[in-house]
Amino acid sequence: MLAGKRILLIIGGGIAAYKALDLIRRIKERCASVTPVLTRAGTEFVTPLSVAALAGARVYTDLFDLTDEAEMGHIQLSRSADLIVVAPATADLMAKMAQGRADDLASTLLLATDTRVLIAPAMNVRMWTHPATQRNLATLAGDGVLTAGPGTGDMACGEFGPGRMAEPPEIVAAIEAALAEGPLRGKHVLVTSGPTHEPIDPVRYIANRSSGAQGTAIARALAALGARVSFITGPASVPPPGGVTVIPVQTAQEMLAAVTAALPADAAVFAAAVADWRVRNASDRKMKKTATGAPPGLHLAENPDILATVAQGKPRPQLVVGFAAETDDVIAHAAQKRARKGCDWIIANDVRPETGIMGGTDTVVTLITATGTETWPRMTKDAVARRLADMISRALT
Ligand code: C5P
Repeated sequence: MLAGKRILLIIGGGIAAYKALDLIRRIKERCASVTPVLTRAGTEFVTPLSVAALAGARVYTDLFDLTDEAEMGHIQLSRSADLIVVAPATADLMAKMAQGRADDLASTLLLATDTRVLIAPAMNVRMWTHPATQRNLATLAGDGVLTAGPGTGDMACGEFGPGRMAEPPEIVAAIEAALAEGPLRGKHVLVTSGPTHEPIDPVRYIANRSSGAQGTAIARALAALGARVSFITGPASVPPPGGVTVIPVQTAQEMLAAVTAALPADAAVFAAAVADWRVRNASDRKMKKTATGAPPGLHLAENPDILATVAQGKPRPQLVVGFAAETDDVIAHAAQKRARKGCDWIIANDVRPETGIMGGTDTVVTLITATGTETWPRMTKDAVARRLADMISRALT
């Protein structure tokens, strides 16, 4: 899939830089070329010699001189690739990208490019969860930057948590998804996924059991057909797909804002399990038990219906797909929901606990359109995702 593709690989200065060597090998195995760029800090972790040897190409470093400019200007360098991959993308590189700074070769290339950029973040857990990094990540997602990882696990610094760079095979899969040639090439598809968390106070929230598995599988299947995917996800328990633009949110209101900001889109799939209500009297301090033991009253307010807002708003995607998780009269309720919300298709599933669908790998769904209903045989959520992505591509092309 990657044969003949040109990857410009920017290697940032973090301990995960050693994995970039394996990444180069894996990209080369797929008959794609790698033009490596090492940041000044990157040269502290891997040597230009080993990078050049594995890439079979000269290495551009921040210590470049005017001969490099004469051979290949930085503008040309930044635009001659099919994809720019930043691995590891350190907190500092992400901050520079978000601010549009151009004070070294790597940041200048990233600012000068008109090529898509995929980052594989890697940093200490506290640096990753710091509001500044999360703000930068949101800015980069708004700019359409694609991500791979980070994963959660043991870190070189001895801590545990999110911030570990994705493993090279995952980054390769994300590169393949980003460069996939398929019927949805040139189409923008928006996918919502996962639960939402509606705060009660700073430590408590209202949530639901959605794992995000179905939405994640759909985003992956759409990307595999060449779509540019904006993946707007609540706090899911499965990791997001690689090679798509991931926009993490917590609440329904944040999800609506992120969806609106990501429009226009050619199609939108609403797989998120959005909380119907939020706590109107949420406290900014942790609620305490009272001396009398009387429990606090939660006042709920209705959340916006994101699917209905998009299906009935402007700019409306050509195709709007919703989900309906029901426990009784599944098809009748879902058909009413399709009409009420104004979406084109609705995918109904029976989520009574005895079906094992909620949180399971298999599912039985019924697709309801304006012209009829079709129940698909029991299959995995991945298979549902691929079948739906195929149908979306036929509807859009
Ligand atoms: O009304 P109900 O929650 O059953 O509708 C399910 C469909 O509507 C799903 O596609 C879900 O993602 C979407 N939805 C939404 N915003 C809400 C509630 C549901 O987008 N506030």
